Amino acid sequence: MSRRLFFAIIVTIGAVAIVAITLGRDFMSADNSQQTATQTATQVKVNIGGPFQLIGGTGKAVSDMDFRGKYMVLYFGYTFCPDVCPTSLGEIADTLDLLSPDEADRIVPIFISIDPERDTPEIVGEYVTHFHDRMVGLTGSVDAVKSVAKSYKAYFSKGEIDADGDYPVDHTSYTYVVGPDGQFVTAYRHATPAADMAKSLKNIFLEE
Ligand code: NI
Repeated sequence: MSRRLFFAIIVTIGAVAIVAITLGRDFMSADNSQQTATQTATQVKVNIGGPFQLIGGTGKAVSDMDFRGKYMVLYFGYTFCPDVCPTSLGEIADTLDLLSPDEADRIVPIFISIDPERDTPEIVGEYVTHFHDRMVGLTGSVDAVKSVAKSYKAYFSKGEIDADGDYPVDHTSYTYVVGPDGQFVTAYRHATPAADMAKSLKNIFLEE
């Protein structure tokens, strides 16, 4: 072996080693950031969520107590929403379909309207059927809706009314998971893919 070839081999081995170490570090930092996310979720547990008194699609009173023993997958929005709400509710529906029937059965997907002036119980009840046959649609008095949104730190604000009397409602778009005991478990950002939410929920079941 010439000295030049020997030197080239040593340099190549060195470069491969550096790449391997760098990749290893990246994986480790990815693991660390995941741990931090879990810790944060644990820390905010007590600060998010709370009781609610709302009205279901059939016009009957519904409270958070009605869902004890199940995981609530909660979303706040409004039926006139052009894109954000339909996208999120579609992802929630797909999430349920990605779980096994037994896993899906442990979850109640719930849509809470933050536009109760337009979203009557009938409208909300009909709206959710477009996404999933198990989805529950809730609305209520303006005060009741404000109160539950506030407890989940869900923000909403009515936009300007146009000539037709229509208006948009600006709102946050998180999907909340609440445990069978009524305690907040976690929240998913807007546009979290169904596959990611399904994986997360499976992990939540495993960690019980
Ligand atoms: Ni929306």
